[in-house]
Amino acid sequence: MGHEGEPMTKRAKGTSDENKHVGYGKLILFGEHFVVYKLPALVGAVKAFTSAQVELCPADEWSTGLTVVDKRPAIPGYKDKKAGEMLESTRLVFKHLGVDLNKRGAKVTLAGDLAPVSGIGASAANCVSVARALAEQLGQDLNQEEINRAGYEGEKAYHGTPSGIDNTASTYGGVLKFQRTDGDPIFETRNLKKEVLIVYASTGITSSTTEVVGDVRKKKEADPAWFDALQERYMSVYNRAEKAIAEKADDLPQALAELCDECHVVMSELGVSCKELDDLVTCAKEAGALGAKMSGTGRGGLMFAICDSPESQKKVYDALSKKAPQLWMTSFL
Ligand code: MEV
Repeated sequence: MGHEGEPMTKRAKGTSDENKHVGYGKLILFGEHFVVYKLPALVGAVKAFTSAQVELCPADEWSTGLTVVDKRPAIPGYKDKKAGEMLESTRLVFKHLGVDLNKRGAKVTLAGDLAPVSGIGASAANCVSVARALAEQLGQDLNQEEINRAGYEGEKAYHGTPSGIDNTASTYGGVLKFQRTDGDPIFETRNLKKEVLIVYASTGITSSTTEVVGDVRKKKEADPAWFDALQERYMSVYNRAEKAIAEKADDLPQALAELCDECHVVMSELGVSCKELDDLVTCAKEAGALGAKMSGTGRGGLMFAICDSPESQKKVYDALSKKAPQLWMTSFL
């Protein structure tokens, strides 16, 4: 992966425990893209995480530059396509915590079981884990809010106007309501009364968040009435999802799944789905999923499906495995 500057010396100090400094991946349940425009969204962190180790060049050996050793699972195309943004995001996190890599060298090692694919919040998991590891190296005792802020700074390398949803889910974990405001974002934990079983599958297409968010913005500016109408439909989905989470137990997966189906149509009309995502959604439903939608940036990236039992989850997984290059099972509670 990216390498610049002088190699690290043997005397560099580093964190020892590989899985100590982690950032979780996430799936946006409802609200990708709309969240950029300060609408509320629901997001769930997945169990898989990225972990980081940071070694700083000793202050008396002023080699400079950044070396990143990327041991995260290999996903064809992703790491190469995102290498520039990844290095820049690392620099931004370092800068935010007071380290100028032009003056002090560092080596960052990324690992963990989170496969970096578009849509899973791999960039946020990367930034949050680096922030945690670097803070420890610097002896900065940062709380979750400060780690989240550092993660947000790093996310700016991936696109100019991140909503902050990915780094917040990555930092705190769990299922959250997230909303951007003119000041600090608002987020609240949501406790589900029943476990929601999920299969998520990648199209194998690495999308550019900068490009897709930029395109949505252009279309919104060109036709505000069109965007407002979609926004209204999205808010209806969101409000019903909140009501379902507050009120339902056994039938919660079914209720959320129906809203996923409805939301997928809204996202398609917004222009952020694609044939590959639509095909995976159809495949999951034909295999018995209760409902499915694209998730995250879109135009590639991934989708998820909600299932009503472990048996059905396995069936949906098997069906999707014939079409999707990478897929996983998880659950939200
Ligand atoms: C990306 O995971 C989600 C988007 O809504 C962008 C963002 O919220 O910053 C597409």
